[in-house]
Amino acid sequence: MSYLDDFYSQYDEDARLISRHGQVEYLTTRKYIKECLAGLFDPSILEVGAGTGRYSVTLAKEGYSVTAIELVEHNLELLRAKLDGTERIKTMQGNALDLSVLSNDSFDLTLVLGPMYHLYTKEDKLRALSEAIRVTKPGGHILVAYCMNEPTIIQYVFKAGSKNLEHVLDDGLLTPDWHCISEPKEVFELARTEDIADLDAAFAVERLKLVATDGATNYMKDCVDEMDDKTFAKWLEFHFATCERKDLIGASHHTLDILKKRVDRPGTNYPLLLEQAKALAEASQDPISLMANLSALLFQELKEINWAGFYLVKNGALLLGPFQGKVACVKIEKGKGVCGTAWAKDEVQLVSDVHAFPGHIACDSASRSEIVLPIHRANEVVAVLDIDSPLLARFDERDQVGLLGLVELLEKSFANDRFEG
Ligand code: SME
Repeated sequence: MSYLDDFYSQYDEDARLISRHGQVEYLTTRKYIKECLAGLFDPSILEVGAGTGRYSVTLAKEGYSVTAIELVEHNLELLRAKLDGTERIKTMQGNALDLSVLSNDSFDLTLVLGPMYHLYTKEDKLRALSEAIRVTKPGGHILVAYCMNEPTIIQYVFKAGSKNLEHVLDDGLLTPDWHCISEPKEVFELARTEDIADLDAAFAVERLKLVATDGATNYMKDCVDEMDDKTFAKWLEFHFATCERKDLIGASHHTLDILKKRVDRPGTNYPLLLEQAKALAEASQDPISLMANLSALLFQELKEINWAGFYLVKNGALLLGPFQGKVACVKIEKGKGVCGTAWAKDEVQLVSDVHAFPGHIACDSASRSEIVLPIHRANEVVAVLDIDSPLLARFDERDQVGLLGLVELLEKSFANDRFEG
């Protein structure tokens, strides 16, 4: 992380946010922070990547209870120097990728206004978001700021002179469709609106708004800096009136993604599901027909899943059985992937992030979490039930217990059948 230390120890972040053009982004972010806090009694606020405290310190001085986490020591020193000891603020050095010092469901509002500028892989961005969402209360808000791709190309690559154009071309920092390829030495990671939507899709959150926090301001920095008070007030008025327009958002240098953590985890009424499954089992004692109907029932009744089905043990491997969802791999060796592991270990596999599971077999690239339960006949595994979700950590022990009821039903069907594995 030393490149960040180097960058921020020579960079006047406060001056950027205090300049007239910098104020547009700051005041816009403040406006939406206040919208999220409206009506809450003594809300608790977390800022991950608090920088020099422009937001955290201001909120703490307004009386809010704030926890400020910042990675760069130099920034943290500047932040702490602004405090007089009367504020309700906890400050700590820490990394957005690991908030394990904080408990689940703790904050009404979580601000992630800097980290996405400096995380260069999708995995890291998902981890930072996952941590921010985890520590936010259900129903609470998560505000995430991004630097945008096209405005940076216009400003940095073309407007700032030919040296930068040569640099990005020579160093291969652009994809053929002009998405900047950032890396730590370039400091800023850049997003497109679809990249942001793609990150959000992995979580149980609702996107309330994606806001253009500076709109056209940075294209005309000097002009904005020179505005008199009346003109600047009108500029802000124009900006606030247009900053939620979807047709302008990708053209803003900075955006603010406003997310709300869902109150309910996707809940399933397992007792009802079991009753429905029993009715299906009565209709057909044949395990294949029953599995076909159970996969349809699960696919229909479980929220936020993208695949539900069975693999059957056949000739020493798992063979694709009845399922619902996208086409899937046909054969899985014992011990391979999540399914093969559930079979080899004869254990339920509850995988909150399939990308972190060694050897996970990706049938649908949208899958982010998975649960696999072994199905037995006379103590031998004869099949597995596999369910995938596009959300991280979609399944928990409640699903495991509920699905075991269905597995037991199927096991009875297998016990009564002469099915040969
Ligand atoms: N993900 C599974 C493969 C099956 S598909 O998800 C349907 C695995 O790793 O075993």
